[in-house]
Amino acid sequence: MDHAGINHEFLDGVIAGTEVDAYYHLGVTSADELVQGLRGLRAVILGGSGPRMDDFARLWSAEHDDAPIVAFPKEERFVIRYTAGVLFASHGMGMPSASIALQELMRLAYFVTDGDPDALDRIFWARVGTSGGVGLPAGTVVVSTEGVMADLEPYRLLDGAGGYHWFDGHFPLEVVDAILAANSACGFPMASGRTVAANDFFVEQFRLDGAIRLATVDDKMSWLHRIHAAGVRNIEMEGAMLAAYLNTWGFSRFAMVCTTLLDRLDGDQVTSTPEQLHEYGERAGRAIFAYLRTIL
Ligand code: URA
Repeated sequence: MDHAGINHEFLDGVIAGTEVDAYYHLGVTSADELVQGLRGLRAVILGGSGPRMDDFARLWSAEHDDAPIVAFPKEERFVIRYTAGVLFASHGMGMPSASIALQELMRLAYFVTDGDPDALDRIFWARVGTSGGVGLPAGTVVVSTEGVMADLEPYRLLDGAGGYHWFDGHFPLEVVDAILAANSACGFPMASGRTVAANDFFVEQFRLDGAIRLATVDDKMSWLHRIHAAGVRNIEMEGAMLAAYLNTWGFSRFAMVCTTLLDRLDGDQVTSTPEQLHEYGERAGRAIFAYLRTIL
């Protein structure tokens, strides 16, 4: 793990005990007993929806002799559960929300491993979610190889010196292959490819059914064909930031697995029934559980 991007200036003081870290949006601090109980952390599974993370924690606990489930006290922002070595956390929708959850969870992971690079690198990170497919039927589970923004460029943020910091949005390919291999008999379609993380569900995904519409039908179809030709297989709202931040710390094992709810080449509206949507949401979870069982 190349930890050049870790904020040692702040985080090492927390480990030394000269600072207490308030994980404000998670509702805990590094001085809390609950946080001390996370020292066996081996994986962090993130997803947009709180109830889905709660369901996943119950399933993982049931698979592990009904291991106790620890619920984080604050649920206004994110729903977080810890059981049998795995932290399940919701991150809300979009990169601004998910980046807050991820940064606080990375700080927490640093603290509970005492900043030991080997222990940190044993933690597997994944986002499990839903997405719009590009040239794939609804219900396909896509394992991302790279997260890019809607302009096909990597995630970037203002760097404080008048320019942009450009991040690396690649996901480790050996993990992509291992997830596909762990699911070779899963019974639903799977694919791998690049993923666009858009800043909006409507405008930046070139939908024509938003309250605000900037694109024409031709703009939309030419964008969809352009991203498909560039290897993009699905569109969601977090992946470019997720890979960017985890690469910045040098983690070697992380992934994003998202089920498609529709094929954007065929339309904009999500018209699946609640039962279909539930099944699609479950598929990405089943795919990541199959991989988790091979590493934990
Ligand atoms: N999530 C998205 O961001 N886009 C879709 O089309 C479906 C789910």
